[in-house]
Amino acid sequence: MTQTAYARLHCIGSGNLASAGIKILGKAVCSWATNVINPQATPIAPSHPAPAKAPAVSFLSSNSTTVSVNLEAKAPFPAIRALFDHLHSHLDDVAKLNATYPHRGVIKTAALHKAESDQKFTIDLSPMRNSRIPEALRESLDPHGLGEVLDLFNAISAQYVPTILSSLSILAGTDLSVAHTSYNMNYRLCDYNPNTAAPKSSNGCGAHTDYGTFSIIFQDGTSGLELEETPGIWVPVPGDATVVLTGWCAVILSGGRISAAKHRVRRAPGVRRLSAVLFVTPDLDVKLKPLGDSQPIRTFSDTIMRGDLDVATFKDVMGKRWRYREGNEEMDNADSLSQDNEIENMVWG
Ligand SMILES: [Fe+2]
Repeated sequence: MTQTAYARLHCIGSGNLASAGIKILGKAVCSWATNVINPQATPIAPSHPAPAKAPAVSFLSSNSTTVSVNLEAKAPFPAIRALFDHLHSHLDDVAKLNATYPHRGVIKTAALHKAESDQKFTIDLSPMRNSRIPEALRESLDPHGLGEVLDLFNAISAQYVPTILSSLSILAGTDLSVAHTSYNMNYRLCDYNPNTAAPKSSNGCGAHTDYGTFSIIFQDGTSGLELEETPGIWVPVPGDATVVLTGWCAVILSGGRISAAKHRVRRAPGVRRLSAVLFVTPDLDVKLKPLGDSQPIRTFSDTIMRGDLDVATFKDVMGKRWRYREGNEEMDNADSLSQDNEIENMVWG
C-alpha cells in the first residue's frame, strides 16, 4: 500500500498544519489534526541554524499523531550497515565504545543469546554520549560509518526538531518548547539482523508506545514497522517512509490533545532491516502535567495533575520495561504488566 493510499484511508478533516510550517500532502488531514486550539502558540526558537524547508507530511493513522514526512535529509544506510558490520566483527572496538558509557553500554547485542527478547541489535548515542567518545576511537570508527551517522543526527536535530515541535505546539494548544529547552535527544541505530538467537522469530521489536515527545524513524526500505490502528489491528507502514510519531510525554503535556501510537516491528526470516531513530524528550526536570491554561480533554490521574512525576522518573519507570523487552535488564514481576499497561495506570485517572 502506498503512502498516498494510507492518507486517503485514514484522513477525514481539513488541513491545519500548514500554519505550523508543515506542508500537507494531498487534500485531507486526519481527525486529530483538526484540533488546532491556539494559533498563537509560540514556535520554539532554534538554537541551531533555521530549518531549511518545512517537511511535507502524510498521515499514517486515524487515531494518533503518526505521519510520514518527506525530509530532504536521508539516512546513510550504507554507512549504518558498515558500522554494524564492523562492530559485529571487531569486538575490541565494541568494548572501547561501550567503555565510553559503562552505565548501560552503547551497542546492545542481547539478541545474540536471548531468544525471547526483541531480535535486534542497537547502537545508542546522544549528544552526551558522543562527547565521551575519545578522539582516537572516533577517528578509527569514522571510516566505518560513525561520522556519517553523527552528521545525519546533527542535521536532523538542527533542521527539523524545532519545526516539528512548533507544529505539535499548535496541535497541543500550548507552547511545548517551554518544556524542551535543553534539546534532550537520543539517537538509535537498529539492526534487525537474521543472525540472532531466534533467527525465525518474527519479533523484531515488541509492541510499545514511545515515552518521549516525538520520534523520527528512518527506514532502509524494508517493511516491518507496524502501527496499532485499533486494539489488536496492526497496519504495516511502508518500508520507505520516514515516520514521525508521538509518545507519552506529548500526550500528557498536551492534555490529551495529542495521542500516541502503539507500534512494533515484525521480522521476516532471513531478511535484514536497518533503521535510524531520533528521540526527542522534554527536559529531565520537567513535571509531567498538562501545560497551559486549557482544560485537559482526557481525565488524567491525580499524580499527573499534581505534577508529581518528572521526566527523569517517568523515563526510569519506562526504561526498566523497555530494557527488559530488549533483553538488556532483568525484572522482577516482568510478566505482570506490559510496558504500556504500567504507564496507563500511572497516567490515566
Ligand atoms: Fe518505538
